[in-house]
Order: sequence, then C-alpha cells, then structure tokens
Amino acid sequence: KTSALRLYNSIEIPCIGFGTWQTPDGETAVTSVKAAIEAGYRHIDTAAAYGNEESVGKAIRESGIPRAELFITSKVWNTDRGYESTLQAFEKTLEKLGTDYLDLYLIHWPANPTQFEDWAHINLETWRAMTDLYKAGRIRAIGVSNFLPKHLAPLMETEVKPMVNQIEYHPGQMQEETVSYCKENGILIEAWSPLGTGKMLSNETLMAIAEKYNKSVAHLCIRWCMQNGTLPLPKSITPSRIADNLEVFDFEISEEDMKTINQMEYFGGSGLNPDTIDF
Ligand code: A2P
Repeated sequence: KTSALRLYNSIEIPCIGFGTWQTPDGETAVTSVKAAIEAGYRHIDTAAAYGNEESVGKAIRESGIPRAELFITSKVWNTDRGYESTLQAFEKTLEKLGTDYLDLYLIHWPANPTQFEDWAHINLETWRAMTDLYKAGRIRAIGVSNFLPKHLAPLMETEVKPMVNQIEYHPGQMQEETVSYCKENGILIEAWSPLGTGKMLSNETLMAIAEKYNKSVAHLCIRWCMQNGTLPLPKSITPSRIADNLEVFDFEISEEDMKTINQMEYFGGSGLNPDTIDF
C-alpha cells in the first residue's frame, strides 16, 4: 500500500513505518503488528528498549508475509554503547526477532557531553560496531536516532555515514537545525511520534485544516511529514486506527496549509530533549 523511498546506499524503504514505542509486549504487540501487516504496512519500527521485539518477531512470522518483503528496524539501547556491547546487543535483537538480518539498525540515543567527557568517542565506538555489521552484510542500512548536528558531526568523518536519523517530528516540533543538517548530508529523517504522542489530535489549527480536506488530524500529520520529505512512524494499538492511518495517499496538503502548519508553535509531544536527556 505504501510506496518506497531510497536511502543513499540505494536500499528501498517503505515511506510509512509502523511505530511500536509504548506498545506493551505480549498479545497487544502481536495483535497490533499483525493488524498493521494485514492493513498493508511493510515497515515495522521497534527497539531493544521497547521490550517487544519477541512479540514483533512472532507477529511477523505469523503474518505469512515473506521476511524479504518486510523492512524491519531495531535500535541499540544506551546501556549497550561501545564496540563489543553493540555487537552482542545486535545478536540478542536478532534472536528475539527471530530473523537473521535487519533492514535498519539505529543507535537509539547519543551519548551526551552532559553525561560523558568522552561522549564523541563512545558514539564513534558504537558506530564502528554498526559499520562492521553493515559491511559484513548483517544489516542493510545503519543510522542513528535523536542525534543533533553536534552528535552527527564526528560520524560524518567515518567510512560509512549514517543513512537515517530518527527524531521526534510533528507540527510544532520540527527540529529545523537537525533536519537541514541531515538534508545537506543525504540522511533521511524518520519522524517518531508524528502525532505528537497523540497530543496533536486536539489542536484546533490542525482540526480546522483537516476538515477542509475531509480528513482526520492524524491523516494531516502523517501526510504533512511526507510532504516535508520525512518518513512518518505512526503508532497505534487499535486495529481500526492502524488501518486508517494509511489512508493518506488520496489528498495533498496545499502549499499555503503546509506553511501554516510549518509555522505552528510547540503544542506538546514527548517532552524528551536529546540535548539534556540522561538515561
Ligand atoms: P492507540 O495506540 O491507543 O490507538 P504517535 O505515533 O505520535 O506516538 O501517537 C500515538 C498515539 O496516538 C497513541 O496514543 C495512539 O493511540 C494514538 N493514535 C494513533 N492513531 C490515531 C488515530 N488515527 N486517531 C486517534 N488516535 C490515534
């Protein structure tokens, strides 16, 4: 149902992904991921820290869709930073997902100057493990998540540059500096919480615009991400919403409305700040 974008290494990536942050492990995760695949999603985004990789893997196997037709992303957690730990974390993730390769593997959060004097070195060591796994053909693409330009800069001097940066991105939370840095460097922006963890759905500006197109605010946010060149990862555990969130290919937001949304003030979101986060 979704079309594909291309990463700079020519790998194709379905232009909407199914988010699973805050999806409880077990039956809920299995049912919602199966509903997503049934609805037409071919791109599933998980992480070791979400604690639901086993259920995501189970849903994938039970979906009946061949592994090669799916695009699976996971992420290495903060406690596994560094070369050896990242290699081990990757094996654990594969085991939990029940697959022998990943389409995309990301560093979940940068090590920060506020936490570590040698933060840049730590990120580079984690990145070296990602690079080796990529070169060995265990992962089809590698990238980062929640990285600001200052975190990305040292990685841009290495042999294999990040292909993706997955950041919080929704109306009122556009992270302009990070997005333009990534665009200049050929790094695709993936948008986590494109609905602002659901908080955007009650925004009156968005409600008024969505009404004009006879669409929901969720549709508007997802479509807005795509028209701004980012790849949205909407999350839901509700089968009707999961399917409905893919209905974004039958309308186009006008230039004027894009401008209005692009100029919106912060309205809410996760509240997580990559610059000061300490976990
Ligand atoms: P639920 O998972 O209970 O269905 P984000 O992707 O920005 O993190 O937002 C996820 C939140 O938005 C979840 O609370 C999810 O609820 C809710 N949500 C997702 N899609 C829709 C939709 N189409 N309509 C209303 N709420 C939605």
